[in-house]
Amino acid sequence: MSEKKPFYITTPIYYPSGNPHIGHCYTTLACDVVARMKRMQGFDVMFLTGTDEHGQKIEDKAKEAGVTPQEYVDGIVANFKKLWELLGISYDRYIRTTDPYHVESVQKIFKELYDRGYIYKGEYKGKYCKPCESFWTESQLVDGKCPDCGRECVDASEEAYFFKLSDFSDRLEKLLTDEELNFLEPKSRVNEMINNFIKPGLQDLCVSRTSFTWGVPVTFDPGHVVYVWIDALSNYITALGYDNSEYDDFSKFWPADIHVMAKEIIRFHTLIWPAMLMALDLPLPKKVVGHGWITFGGGKMSKSSGNVIDPFVLSERYGVDSLRYHLLREMPFGADAPYTNEMMFNRINCDLANDLGNLVSRTVAMAIKYFDGTLPVDKEFNDSDEELLKMTDELPSFVAENYESLHISDALDKIFRVIARANKYIDENEPWVLAKDEAKKPRLAAVLYNLLDTVRRCSILLSPVMPHICPEIYEQIGACECCTKWEAASERHALKADVTVQKGRVLFPRIDVEKEIAELDALSPKKADLPEEPLKPLTKFDNFAALDLRAVKVLSCEKVKKSDKLLLFKVDDGFGERQVLSGIAKYYEPEDLIGKTLAMIVNLEPRKMMGYESNGMIMSVRDGDKFRVVEFGDDIKPGADIS
Ligand code: MSP
Repeated sequence: MSEKKPFYITTPIYYPSGNPHIGHCYTTLACDVVARMKRMQGFDVMFLTGTDEHGQKIEDKAKEAGVTPQEYVDGIVANFKKLWELLGISYDRYIRTTDPYHVESVQKIFKELYDRGYIYKGEYKGKYCKPCESFWTESQLVDGKCPDCGRECVDASEEAYFFKLSDFSDRLEKLLTDEELNFLEPKSRVNEMINNFIKPGLQDLCVSRTSFTWGVPVTFDPGHVVYVWIDALSNYITALGYDNSEYDDFSKFWPADIHVMAKEIIRFHTLIWPAMLMALDLPLPKKVVGHGWITFGGGKMSKSSGNVIDPFVLSERYGVDSLRYHLLREMPFGADAPYTNEMMFNRINCDLANDLGNLVSRTVAMAIKYFDGTLPVDKEFNDSDEELLKMTDELPSFVAENYESLHISDALDKIFRVIARANKYIDENEPWVLAKDEAKKPRLAAVLYNLLDTVRRCSILLSPVMPHICPEIYEQIGACECCTKWEAASERHALKADVTVQKGRVLFPRIDVEKEIAELDALSPKKADLPEEPLKPLTKFDNFAALDLRAVKVLSCEKVKKSDKLLLFKVDDGFGERQVLSGIAKYYEPEDLIGKTLAMIVNLEPRKMMGYESNGMIMSVRDGDKFRVVEFGDDIKPGADIS
């Protein structure tokens, strides 16, 4: 039996409603760093990530794409896994909420909570959009209307199950304020949870829905599916085998050591999740850490000029470890951090190419030049070496503590201060001057040895962040396996006294910032050239075949009073007359359209606008910021089908 101590770390399970992006990368990378370090420290690590695959949004996206929800999420999940592989994410387990074992466990957990009296049946009240069959909260409405279709919503209610979150207020407040436990970091978030949520009174949580079907069915009440958070949060225990026979790791790894996420879902992890666990009589996770957001010009990621930020493209062009380093270095603990390619290039040039890369290549080159690559055993150390050595001695505990508490940027900052100090040490000792005097060879050997050993110690500490490059550094500086273990970072002079170095490739080629920005620019179409709407995903032929597209002849056309957008048409569809509205009043005089033969979708459900019923949709094509109707010659008869 292994005597290793267990360590369990988790990322949120991401929504596969779209492909993974740089934002998802940050959390996953941060967890990867901790997981890698803990493994190096001898822990038995369970690093869990995965995807949260149920819900209305996925159901809608799949419908839009003309595929089943399962087919839809399968496609996106494959891309998440591809990205994690590319970035070298060392996860131990990947949970999908559509995995049958998870579904089974969630059903048992839901039932257990119900049997224990923590889930009860009630009525969910909200704003309901009938055509979209969707409930919305007041805050989701846009100008009081449905955020999807812009139509009026009505007060409505549906039968739903609720979780008694309100029962746990006192215990949750205690948990959050217990100084010794230090349950939530950063501390600033504790007040936010207490003042914004606990103090105003926790509301019971709606945990089932009947308005969509893509979810875990409630076993004892057909028609209900488990609504979002009970399904999602349970992943942290179902992935260990809680209430299922897929895995047998629950007793070993639960409670989790750290749940990591960004700030917007701290609330769910520090209120709902502990309350669920309290209700189930299970131990609580030891810590929840919520970091800030990576923000992208204007908050949203875009393919606007010069800012292609596809992680696949970036890691292919500039190296996986450079991307890893940049993201982890740039995010100060708890705060937001903007991302731009320019910032990444400058960071790579400054820290990686100039400081680390140069230190390695200069030191190795000097060892080759002055000693044919192998340092002599005879060395002359002196007191002036102490400052660099002492600074390096302080690193391991600082870095370990800061990695583990997710202050990764602070840890990296400190490592790079030592690297900068080592570069200064070269200038102070002027090896090229020492080399000119045979009597100073032992001193020269000591200087180079100190440098190589500092590189070794820093690289060990950097290896969780740059796992691909550090082994290359070890090779160049002649560090054997035993002196690159985690503990060896604390040891001075663990390199062999007669170490042999090897010239290697340039580890971090300098980036010509302007040229690269121009090339990335060329890679992405200019914003002005991009069609307004991106191409929609593939759809089934049947979706197209369901539309009835016909040529229609305009019999009459007039402006709709009080509307500057709408024209009211009477058209001949070949079978009779019908009324239809179109929002093209800005682009046409009504009389110009009378007598024209246009393209129209004739089997759309009727819709009322400004008091008139519209039966179909006249098709038009975008022309810059205008729209033009799609028209045919007089030889096309009304009713002719378009395919
Ligand atoms: N499915 C829920 C989580 C359930 S966990 C039981 C969810 N999914 S999500 O896809 O929206 O992922 C949110 C998480 O992705 C954030 O909390 C963060 O970890 C990561 N990030 C997504 N975009 C991000 C940034 N722009 N910046 C930093 N991290 C962000 O919420």
